[in-house]
Amino acid sequence: MFKDSVVLITGAASGIGFAAAKQFTEQGATVIGADFNESYLKEATEALGDNFIGKQCDVTSEKQIMELKDFAETSFGKLDSLINNAGRVKLVPIEEMVEEDFYYHFDVLVKAPMLFVKHFASLLRKSDNPSVVNVSSINARNEFLNNHLYSTAKAAMEKLTRHIVRDLTGIRANTLLPGVIDTRILMENYTEEDKKGMYDAIKPSIPMGRVGVPDDVANCILFLCSKKATYISGAAILIDGGYLCNPNWGI
Ligand code: NAI
Repeated sequence: MFKDSVVLITGAASGIGFAAAKQFTEQGATVIGADFNESYLKEATEALGDNFIGKQCDVTSEKQIMELKDFAETSFGKLDSLINNAGRVKLVPIEEMVEEDFYYHFDVLVKAPMLFVKHFASLLRKSDNPSVVNVSSINARNEFLNNHLYSTAKAAMEKLTRHIVRDLTGIRANTLLPGVIDTRILMENYTEEDKKGMYDAIKPSIPMGRVGVPDDVANCILFLCSKKATYISGAAILIDGGYLCNPNWGI
């Protein structure tokens, strides 16, 4: 379905980004996978074959974003889909936060998507189905304890999506709000055992009875970038197994 498409995914070397890269490459797209983690990127490059071009890039650096844009322009002359997916999270009580905690979250989750859109808009306009997907979170809509930095940054991503739609007419943009998805993202905050315990505690609150897997989100990313979604723009889609419909979500 994506033959001749060029897709840029940030945070492509792990979790949701990797699952989307795998599906896109299997369906014929060329994926430029930007990630700053060298070992994850090596694993992804080995796993995904020639249609995956892994690029080591810290998305908080405008210089590195511009280098990526030069590469995409010289190599392909267009971009069909931009997936702003890279993310990280640290739980920080409000009264204990330091300025660096703000930048830790907002540089990756807000500044980077803004700069990617700024620099890649001209290449997206060369596509016949240009589309941006911003991977936000249900935390844009709920208040998980000690998570105010991540939550507010994720809420800002949803607003950015709406501005892309309004300001860059012709380029579709949509927000995804995943729920609890089993990836490496919590590794900074939990041991593998703690993570499992947390998932077991949350599961009864998820109407679909399970924690999500990266493909649950990747499936929707591919749909939104496909020609089946050319009238879907400005949407914010929950992918949380119904979690936010449960009033007991605040564990
Ligand atoms: P993950 O940790 O498996 O993947 C995130 C990727 O982003 C990693 O490969 C990491 O190296 C990369 N990354 C982080 N900072 C970067 C930077 N400065 N420059 C370049 N690459 C960077 O996590 P996951 O879960 O796949 O996360 C993908 C997105 O989904 C994130 O935006 C996350 O906030 C969001 N999300 C995840 C949920 C979950 O439960 N796993 C729930 C809701 C949203």
